[in-house]
Amino acid sequence: MTVMTIANQKGGVGKTTTAINLATAMAAINKRVLLIDLDPQGNASTGLGISASERRGGVYQVITGEQTLSESVVSTSVPNLYVLPSTQDLSASEVELPHVDEGLYVLKKILNGHDFDFVIFDCPPSLGFLTINALIASQYILIPLQAEFFALEGMTQLLRTFRRIHNNYNPDLEILGIILTMYDSRNALAQHVEEEVRSYFPEHLFDSKIPRSTRVSEAPSHGLPVMVYDVKSHGSMAYIRLAKEILHKIRGMSHGHHSQVA
Ligand SMILES: Nc1ncnc2c1ncn2[C@@H]1O[C@H](COP(=O)(O)OP(=O)(O)O)[C@@H](O)[C@H]1O
Ligand SMILES: [Mg+2]
Repeated sequence: MTVMTIANQKGGVGKTTTAINLATAMAAINKRVLLIDLDPQGNASTGLGISASERRGGVYQVITGEQTLSESVVSTSVPNLYVLPSTQDLSASEVELPHVDEGLYVLKKILNGHDFDFVIFDCPPSLGFLTINALIASQYILIPLQAEFFALEGMTQLLRTFRRIHNNYNPDLEILGIILTMYDSRNALAQHVEEEVRSYFPEHLFDSKIPRSTRVSEAPSHGLPVMVYDVKSHGSMAYIRLAKEILHKIRGMSHGHHSQVA
C-alpha cells in the first residue's frame, strides 16, 4: 500500500484538484485507490460528486471510533476510486486530537488492516494536527505549487515541518516531488517561478506541469474529475502524464523497491 499526502499550507494552490485527478488516474489503471478528504470544507468529496446527504459519516466519525473505515467509505462514479469524505465537524479534530492518547497516530491506525493500492490524503490549508497526522501515516509528501509570485513563500516552513516529522515520528517519509499547477507558459512570471523552483529543488520538481485550464476548474461543479468530464483536455492529459511520472519515480525510490506499485 502506497500512502501519500498532498500538502501545502497555502489555500487555492491545487491540492484538491491534484488529489482528485491523481486518484482518478491511478484508479484508471486498475489500482484500488482511497482518497481521504482531510479538509472540513469537503471540496474533494463534493468534487467527486459525494453530496453531503450521501455521507453516512466521514473522517471525523472514523477517528473518533463512532464508525469503522469500511462503514464510512463511499464509492464514486470512477471504478476503483473510493472516498472517505469529510464533514464540517472534522474541524473539531484540530483541537481534540492533541488531547487524545497517541493522537498523532490516529490516521495511521485507521488504515491498519486495509489493502488499497494507493491512499491519498487531501489536506486542509494549514500545517495543523490533521496535516501532521497525515504525514505521519504516509511514505510520501507531494507538494503542489501555484506558478505565481510568492509561490515559494511558505516552502521553508513546509520543509521544516517535513524534516521534523521525518526526524521525530516517521523516518519513512520522503518528498515525492513538487508539482507546478495552474501553469501558463505564455506568462513570463510563471517561467521565472519554474526556474526558481528548479534551481532550489532540482531533484524534486516534476517535469509534468499542470496548465491553467477552464475545463479543470469547471469539472468539480459537475462532481467529476476532469479526466471524466473531458478526458481530451490539456488538464486531463497533464494529470495522466503526472501520474505516470509519479509511478515511475516511486519505483526508483526506496519504498518503491519493496512495494508492488504498477
Ligand atoms: N489547473 C487548473 N486550471 C484552472 N483552475 C484550477 C486548476 N487547478 C485548480 N484550479 C482551481 O483553483 C481553485 C483552487 O484549487 P484547489 O484544488 O481547490 O486548491 P486547494 O485544494 O489547494 O485549496 C479551484 O477553484 C480549482 O477549480
Ligand atoms: Mg483543497
